[in-house]
Amino acid sequence: MNSYFEQLGRTVQQRWQQKNFSLEAFPELARIALDEAPPSENVDIEEMVQEFLANDDQPIQGQSGFGQPELLAFNDPRFYIQILFWMEGTTDIHQHEFSGAFHLMQGSSVHSEFDFVGAQSVTPHIRVGDLRLKKIELLETGRTVPITSGRECIHSLFHLDTPSVTVVVRTHHDPGTGPQYNYLPPHIAIDPIQADALTMRRKQLLDVLETIEYEGYVAQVSGMIESLDFERGFNTLHHTMDRLQALGEWQPVLAKFQQKHGELAEGVPATLAESLRRDTITQMRYQIDNPEHRFFLALVMNVEKSKDIQALISERFPNQSPIETILGWVEELIEPAEFGLSLLDGAFAFPESLDIQEQYDLLIDTVRHALEQGSESETAKHPEIHAALSGSCLRPLFREI
Ligand SMILES: [Fe+2]
Repeated sequence: MNSYFEQLGRTVQQRWQQKNFSLEAFPELARIALDEAPPSENVDIEEMVQEFLANDDQPIQGQSGFGQPELLAFNDPRFYIQILFWMEGTTDIHQHEFSGAFHLMQGSSVHSEFDFVGAQSVTPHIRVGDLRLKKIELLETGRTVPITSGRECIHSLFHLDTPSVTVVVRTHHDPGTGPQYNYLPPHIAIDPIQADALTMRRKQLLDVLETIEYEGYVAQVSGMIESLDFERGFNTLHHTMDRLQALGEWQPVLAKFQQKHGELAEGVPATLAESLRRDTITQMRYQIDNPEHRFFLALVMNVEKSKDIQALISERFPNQSPIETILGWVEELIEPAEFGLSLLDGAFAFPESLDIQEQYDLLIDTVRHALEQGSESETAKHPEIHAALSGSCLRPLFREI
């Protein structure tokens, strides 16, 4: 067992015992213990890894669902300490059924916090409401952040470096604070571990129909949407969206869901569209390991407005104009394609008379204009290029200047 984490565990144990194991006291107590002797300054990660690999004297390993992988470094009946490695780096927007604090031992992250306002439970496993970004900040190595269980603490992390390593001092489970909702912005909260085996089997069966290219696939899904309740209907829509879009049958099926559920379904189209955009960014992140580009992706994934994106870029790179910084990244990310140019998931076609350099210049010029002047003036100048930019995952860059 690593001696640093054993000491940290004993300290937390003694101090919390003095507070009668009050749940309210735990997050701050954990934060202080981590900040007094920060793991980022006191733990040699390489040594810690070697010790874990070669020494059998380790706490019994658990399975929290976080980390790639997670190591359990200290275990007590009331709390434990885990070390989380993050290789791919983004968490869903989520809340916790546990409390404590996390510390960034290596790497840096974009941390977003949200409120879910006007929430209404449809079933015990799905809620509708309005997810609003409350705060977004850069966490550098050495930062410690308290975690509260329940609906007060809704957050997501986008890790910028590979691997990022966090240390979490946490309770096992805070009764009454579940479920541990995941949030699909802007309007849905869903319990990710609800064991609805019937829905799971139906999804698997739909996958079979998709794989064999069953000709009644669309009619089958459409029939399900007409007969199922909101929760199972939503899960079915979410699961089949890709396929239905590829078949050009998405809109009629979505309309059926809206007709059936009326007001309750108002936020569903925007939520599913955003889910697709975020999945696209998550997929792209697997191919992108430049920390600045990952930072750029984290911003467009999590921040809704251009001015907020620019403010965060200024915070990280204070000596240069945020627009120039964005343009630099855009230039690095543009790639030639068969039809013209691609920029992340955006595809841009140009008149054949333009050579490749002219195409680059025109695309960058359009991005610059949109960033500087706002979308309206740009729409008039290069409407097709601008429409492709606004339809790509970079959409927030061109919103509300
Ligand atoms: Fe979390």
